[in-house]
Amino acid sequence: MVDLSVGTPVDPVPSVIQSALAKAADSPGYPLTAGSPALRAAIEAWVRAHCGATGSFGVLPTIGSKELVAWLPTLLGLGPGDEVVIPSICYPTYEIGALLAGCTVVRSDSLVALGPAPHVRLVWVNSPSNPTGRVLPPEHLRKIVDWARERGVVVASDECYLPLGWETSAASILSVCDDGYANVLAVHSLSKRSNMAGYRAGFVAGDPALVDELLAVRKHAGMMVPGPVQAAMVAALSDESHVAQQRERYAGRRRVLRAALSAAGFTIDHSQAGLYLWATRGEDCWATVDWFAARGILVAPGSMYGAGGQRHVRIALTAPDEQIATVPARLA
Ligand SMILES: Cc1ncc(COP(=O)(O)O)c(C=O)c1O
Repeated sequence: MVDLSVGTPVDPVPSVIQSALAKAADSPGYPLTAGSPALRAAIEAWVRAHCGATGSFGVLPTIGSKELVAWLPTLLGLGPGDEVVIPSICYPTYEIGALLAGCTVVRSDSLVALGPAPHVRLVWVNSPSNPTGRVLPPEHLRKIVDWARERGVVVASDECYLPLGWETSAASILSVCDDGYANVLAVHSLSKRSNMAGYRAGFVAGDPALVDELLAVRKHAGMMVPGPVQAAMVAALSDESHVAQQRERYAGRRRVLRAALSAAGFTIDHSQAGLYLWATRGEDCWATVDWFAARGILVAPGSMYGAGGQRHVRIALTAPDEQIATVPARLA
């Protein structure tokens, strides 16, 4: 099988990151939940350079970004009666996090369509999107921020695919907040950017008051990033050459897969950025999954991401080049 379903990195962890981890192996003491001074400085510098952030904002490392996505509603003290808005087609953990806190999930791509929405406390956005690869323009992000601030709602922007722009580059929500970061959190991950999914390395940046609140709870909940991983994150955030190299690998795989899918009669929707191709032949996604499986290729059914994905499959760019090279013949 060529596994294009999960989207887990398959290329090596860059050696600069491996050495930083190894050098920090003798770490007998507890790590700082807030992050070491070196890590905090590295995150801040990266956010200024790559998210267009200026002024002062809070930063906090997380144990990968999935744990933050899953626990954010709980960490913010949300619970029954509170509503969490998530995209209509999205990464399943936004829903899981809302349910863990006992909140009600509202799937919507239009906040305006929600009306007054007095019970909404948190809105998730994800650009570039998993699974669709859709990118939200900066003006759209700004409208979301304004809408949320008028109602005292928190906006969490999951930007874990930000470095993977193809036809379009996505903007960070922080870049549209030149009037400060109130109510806004940007969630980042080193899993895809630096092949560090196995290390569990992410961070959140934004509203200093919210970040302080998260830190206070996370300290007592033991949600701290291991010391050697913090050291590895510093190395990863201080080097862009490995990111450029990884992007090239994904760009090459994307070219091969796109051409093979088009030749096989698929339409690729959105997919301007991110780690996936969002493809359809106008049939139920499980029929498409079966069709691929018969050719030795595993893809993810779109229905996993919401009812709106029923006629699409998600195809990840994460298989070794040798395997990707076999796909055109398998689909022909
Ligand atoms: C949209 C989105 N957010 C968050 C994550 C979690 O990534 P990690 O926990 O590896 O940082 C993923 C992983 O695939 C994702 O697709």
